[in-house]
Amino acid sequence: MSGSEHGAGRSAPGPAAGGGGAGGPAAPPRPPADILVVDDDRTNTLLLADLLSVAGHTARVANSGAQALALAAEQTPDLVLLDIMMPGMDGYQVCRKLRAEAATRLVPVVMVTALRETDDRIAGIDAGADDFISKPFNRHELLARVHSLLRIRRLHGELERALAGQKRLSQMKDQLTHLIIHDLRNPLSGIMGNLDLLSLKKDNLTEKQARFIEEGRRSSKELLKLIAALLDVTKMEEGKLELKREATDLTALAREAVAAFAGVVERDRKTLVVAAPAEPVTALVDRNLILRVIENLLTNALKYTTAGGKIVARVEGPAAPGGAARCGVEDDGEGIPVEVQNRLFTWFGQVEARAERARAGAGLGLSFCKLAAEAHGGRIWVESAAGTGSKFIFELPTNAV
Ligand SMILES: Nc1ncnc2c1ncn2[C@@H]1O[C@H](COP(=O)(O)OP(=O)(O)OP(=O)(O)O)[C@@H](O)[C@H]1O
Ligand SMILES: [Mg+2]
Repeated sequence: MSGSEHGAGRSAPGPAAGGGGAGGPAAPPRPPADILVVDDDRTNTLLLADLLSVAGHTARVANSGAQALALAAEQTPDLVLLDIMMPGMDGYQVCRKLRAEAATRLVPVVMVTALRETDDRIAGIDAGADDFISKPFNRHELLARVHSLLRIRRLHGELERALAGQKRLSQMKDQLTHLIIHDLRNPLSGIMGNLDLLSLKKDNLTEKQARFIEEGRRSSKELLKLIAALLDVTKMEEGKLELKREATDLTALAREAVAAFAGVVERDRKTLVVAAPAEPVTALVDRNLILRVIENLLTNALKYTTAGGKIVARVEGPAAPGGAARCGVEDDGEGIPVEVQNRLFTWFGQVEARAERARAGAGLGLSFCKLAAEAHGGRIWVESAAGTGSKFIFELPTNAV
């Protein structure tokens, strides 16, 4: 096949390694690259290899697709100059195979081709080529394209390394945080144990002292719950929480959750009812986890409704057999502005500027609910608007094994 328009050879003046354009400021030195030259035409491979070595690179030569793949597997090249029309395996096939291998997936491929048709170039792009150069090639253009792709690949490599470093750091940070959260339980157990002991000595305490101790015990329990939630959320995010699935009647579960709030409901003169079909709604779920999801949603509904508020825990069977069952908690409280709704399901996501500080929580409850629903192959969402009450609904597949 035809070679260079300008001819090539060691004698020809060409841009050498580190060389820049004539007259311009000196370009930074260019690192030598290992370039795989693939062409069934031996004259052509020699020509290209010569041109590349004058420019300071190492050229390895393959005269067939199979040989090219073998050389690429032996040592990943920095770039491949690939002829399209070759007997046996053509350039498109070679390119596809390079793209399919992890080691050569990102290696820049320049197709050197006598074909000028747009369709051929489209086929090349489809096969994963990064650039084309037409035969007979202009060697300055060829080197410029080669150097531009090598630069992009180098920058890509730098980005990859930086990202890997960031990932490692972030993992270490996560592990450390996890460890600290985990270890918080030990001193906390000590505090709780001592408070429990003190509370047993009520007779020796003034009423005020006893109240302080009770307050301390209540706060410690809250803190313990928070630590457990943080540990669960991290475990679920890492996919390490194993679900203990069992056939569970979601209506019975909703009733169990509701019953636990009877005292608060009565104290605050609210209404809390379960609305469910007469027949059981059964799903294979981690009972304890889903119970905690419903409890979280009920806690929120009770927190964000005023005295006299109405709350419904609704359970619905699948619309079609084997479909998803739905559980929802609906309230007639203050509602949630649409623009902040997505944020609520992220760690510490809360509606800002909620007036009553006393009602503030950690902002973890809904993240927990989302991860728990998703761990079951389900999803959770909210339907609400400011001032109209809120509906938190989650869907669980009933046929999951
Ligand atoms: N039923 C609801 N009505 C109005 N706003 C709600 C309701 N449920 C949740 N929100 C808003 O969503 C935020 C996030 O809820 P989430 O349960 O994740 O955290 P939290 O209740 O603040 O704290 P935690 O549950 O960790 O104790 C809440 O702070 C509140 O702003
Ligand atoms: Mg909450």
